Amino acid sequence: MRKKEDCLFLRDYKWEYPEIEYGKGVYLYDTEGREYIDACAGAAAANLGHGSGEIAQVMAEQAKRVAFTHLSRFVTRPAYELAEKVAEMTPADLNYVYFVSGGSEATETAIKLCRQYFLERDGVTSKYKIISRWRSYHGNTIGSLSLSGKPDLRKKYGPLLLDFPHITPAYCYRCEYGLTCDKCGSRCAWDLEKAILREGPENVAGFIAEPITGSAAPGAYPVKDYYKIVREICDKYDILFISDEVMNGFGRTGTNFGIDNFDVIPDIMCIAKGISSGYSPLGGAVVSEKIISVFRKGSGSFTHGHTYGGNPLSCAVGSVVLDIIKRDGIVENSKRMGELLKAKLQNEIGSHAIVGDIRGMGLQLGVEFVKDKNTKEPFEKSVNLKSKLTKRGLENGIVLYPGGGSADTVRGDHILLTPPLNISEAHVDEIVVKLKKTIEDVSRNIFD
Ligand SMILES: Cc1ncc(COP(=O)(O)O)c(C=O)c1O
Repeated sequence: MRKKEDCLFLRDYKWEYPEIEYGKGVYLYDTEGREYIDACAGAAAANLGHGSGEIAQVMAEQAKRVAFTHLSRFVTRPAYELAEKVAEMTPADLNYVYFVSGGSEATETAIKLCRQYFLERDGVTSKYKIISRWRSYHGNTIGSLSLSGKPDLRKKYGPLLLDFPHITPAYCYRCEYGLTCDKCGSRCAWDLEKAILREGPENVAGFIAEPITGSAAPGAYPVKDYYKIVREICDKYDILFISDEVMNGFGRTGTNFGIDNFDVIPDIMCIAKGISSGYSPLGGAVVSEKIISVFRKGSGSFTHGHTYGGNPLSCAVGSVVLDIIKRDGIVENSKRMGELLKAKLQNEIGSHAIVGDIRGMGLQLGVEFVKDKNTKEPFEKSVNLKSKLTKRGLENGIVLYPGGGSADTVRGDHILLTPPLNISEAHVDEIVVKLKKTIEDVSRNIFD
């Protein structure tokens, strides 16, 4: 007889997985009855927390009415309604939403949109390269991984990846030019121009960036004029600017979208995660008038699509999620609770020997760990600090999102703190207490 664990292809056979029975609000509960505060909303997805009866009811009603239709032949009211609600939140004339099922599909869609835009607009066949940055994450499919600037994820699949260029990240804690924020002149933004000239502007179709970095260097963000410079460079060389809002979007950084913090308008926005708060797979690419008009006037057809893109069930979920975000002042709460959480982290763990940096906006915060605070020397990879923190965190009842490679692509441990956006002050306190205990437990073990 098969055991229950025989058939599931696990992501990591060296990890011991607790089995989750159910979730309620900010908490998850496993089959042993243990409670965990979800300090990362799974993967910055469950932005309204777990077990919402309100969302479940809408799902059930839509599933009974019609769960699936295909975008190639039909449209549905949930898709129309959701697109309109997204357009109400996005800046300027980014009003046209192409639905897919998640973040990697959204960035893949953006790659193809850029390519087809130039083909449609003036028949240009040479423009196809998308420039991205090192220490970035844009997804795990072959196209989106070609954008992602995470050497540890790319290494095994190197021969399969596209030859997309990567530039220096905006990562002030470890500025590659050794500059300080107040006097840097956004030097890393000008790297974009150098890369465009190196590749030839006639070959470059787009530039993609996460306004506030997610899992690759959690919470890192550039100086204020960085994206204004990016916008100018893109306009100068006729290149589309894609804002990857998969994690930042829908209130995560204390504004509707990450790019709103910089008062810049992109050409394309990639969305996912928070749009459905994890209740159903959903994503999209939002484009501006400039792009949609070229498609409308040109062939009229975007040669792209996936089976589940724009399915009515996911769109109905997205629609109620955006209603709740508006009704409950979720974006404002993210800003307030984010400021509180950051301040408390700085007070409670900021001076700890292994805490190098605490950064981020809204409820997208990152903590980077170091062996030596003064030199910023990271721990050796063999210490496996990030896994130790995650494991000890679970034992202490807190779910953390670990990551590595932030220092020199191999070394450098960090955690991403992205709790549900509807948390209260009491939850903020609980996260800080449990994280502090976890850091103390782990560092005691390492140095003893
Ligand atoms: C900024 C960003 N882009 C793209 C993705 C890929 O999204 P998905 O995991 O839904 O494919 C992620 C996922 O974490 C992300 O954070």
